[in-house]
Amino acid sequence: MKVLVTGGLGYIGSHTVVELQQEGFEVVIIDNLSNSRIEVLDQITSITGIKPQFEQFDLLDKEKVSDFFNTNRVDGVIHFAASKAVGESVEKPLLYYQNNLGSLLNLLQAMLRTDQDHFIFSSSCTVYGQADVLPITENAPIKPAESPYGNTKKISEDVLSDVVKAHDFHAIALRYFNPIGAHPSAKIGELPLGVPQNLIPYVTQTAAGIREQLSVFGDDYPTPDGTAIRDYIHVVDLAKAHIVALKRLVQKEYQSPIEFFNIGTGMGSSVLEVIQAFEKATQQKLNYKIVDRRAGDITAAYADTTLANTTLGWRAEKSLEEALKDAWEWQLQQK
Ligand code: UD1
Repeated sequence: MKVLVTGGLGYIGSHTVVELQQEGFEVVIIDNLSNSRIEVLDQITSITGIKPQFEQFDLLDKEKVSDFFNTNRVDGVIHFAASKAVGESVEKPLLYYQNNLGSLLNLLQAMLRTDQDHFIFSSSCTVYGQADVLPITENAPIKPAESPYGNTKKISEDVLSDVVKAHDFHAIALRYFNPIGAHPSAKIGELPLGVPQNLIPYVTQTAAGIREQLSVFGDDYPTPDGTAIRDYIHVVDLAKAHIVALKRLVQKEYQSPIEFFNIGTGMGSSVLEVIQAFEKATQQKLNYKIVDRRAGDITAAYADTTLANTTLGWRAEKSLEEALKDAWEWQLQQK
């Protein structure tokens, strides 16, 4: 079976390509290298022994997308390619709407025209905003997005919901909680551009001496230790969720033409707990200080993963410490 992975050289995409290949899928990657490096292709090959087919172009190029589906038949598409910096999306909203929605529309139009089905969409727990009830189930109300980035995830889910109503087309949206860690081989991992915005790359870069000090954003949240709580999931566990979702589509096991699943561990960890776990897992001492809250941050989010556990037969297996250790091993590989 052949699968298209858009953004397959990016952080989550590259880990998913490895898992797909290890499960016997033939993989073709489309990536414009806007936030990824071509070397990742060799790293994937060195882990699995199989070089994936690679096409370098931008999904906003409608003609190229159309040509691709004219000349390739795939059993499914896993769509990662998107812009993902929350802060940048606030400054450049049109760029985010154009990139994230334009590429989705081009893909869907070409797939429908060439009669190709099965679409897995990278969604986010950001669609729930600050949920009123924790842990968060898939039935929790969708809240107005805090950022254009978050809004593109919500609108993309809406686009897919409308498309499956009108056409013989099937999709699964995976709502990721906070992906962290790296491949245990330390050959692929997260490659943040510039100063990291997310917690774990900032932690590992601080421990490595690239950043002087980690700022903990707020210790006055209504949580046991005052710092904000998230559900951190190992990227390899997350990658594996895509394989079970793809099989569900291909084997027509779905219960409705679009399904939504929370992909997290089900466990919430505070920022201070993450720091402690990192220090324990890596024997590194982390220099940090408490600063003001970051605008737009929520207090707490963690998943109820019952639906993914029972319906997909998937669950996260790796611990927070394992993820932090793998993130650290990956950091040590960077120059
Ligand atoms: C962020 C995005 C989310 C996106 C996700 C992608 C925001 C508000 N949300 O999630 O939409 O899907 O990234 O990975 O940007 N923290 C620190 N110090 C730091 C960095 C982070 O204390 O230097 C804290 C944050 O306040 C938060 C936690 O660590 O409580 C996790 O932050 P982060 O890794 O940026 O993820 P989210 O904000 O949950």
